[in-house]
Amino acid sequence: MKKQDQRIQLVASTEFRNDVDKWRREQTDLPSHSEAIRRLVKIALRSGDSETMKMITAIIRPHKYEDVRNALIDIGIEGLSATEIRGFGRQRGQTEIYRGAEYKTTEVPKIKIEIVVPATKLDQVVNIISKSSETGKVGDGKIFVSNIDQAIRIRTGETQDDAL
Ligand SMILES: Nc1ncnc2c1ncn2[C@@H]1O[C@H](COP(=O)(O)OP(=O)(O)OP(=O)(O)O)[C@@H](O)[C@H]1O
Ligand SMILES: [Mg+2]
Repeated sequence: MKKQDQRIQLVASTEFRNDVDKWRREQTDLPSHSEAIRRLVKIALRSGDSETMKMITAIIRPHKYEDVRNALIDIGIEGLSATEIRGFGRQRGQTEIYRGAEYKTTEVPKIKIEIVVPATKLDQVVNIISKSSETGKVGDGKIFVSNIDQAIRIRTGETQDDAL
């Protein structure tokens, strides 16, 4: 543990103190009040990091994969993962739906692309994927965006944005 030699004064309400107390009693090692506050601050700072990296999950048509991949390489994306998946959307995999008629659900092949990017690149990457995967017909796919808490590049030990 690093030397704890910096004193930070904290004045708080009874309610705050009770909240901290409740939290420390829930920890297996019952940390001191100071340690509990140190840990809580660390958790808050780390959760702030989740705003700095985003994961884009794009589900696209398999025959559009080459175009999407090349467009991403053109804008300097340094890595991605791609998986062959099967799924369905609103039409449940059917190209035609007759209202009221019973129809079967069919999973159709798609490609799932996952890319983790610095949040600053998010809009650009999402736009490129949309543009290069669109045909305008049903079944073009979806793009989901989520926060990433941590990234580690195994070989170098780099973390967060530097690891991407
Ligand atoms: N809510 C969802 N959650 C997870 N995956 C989804 C969801 N909706 C669609 N998908 C995935 O995306 C693929 C393509 O969906 P699709 O484009 O058909 O969606 P849609 O809502 O039916 O839109 P459209 O009307 O343009 O076809 C599906 O095969 C499935 O893998
Ligand atoms: Mg659909």
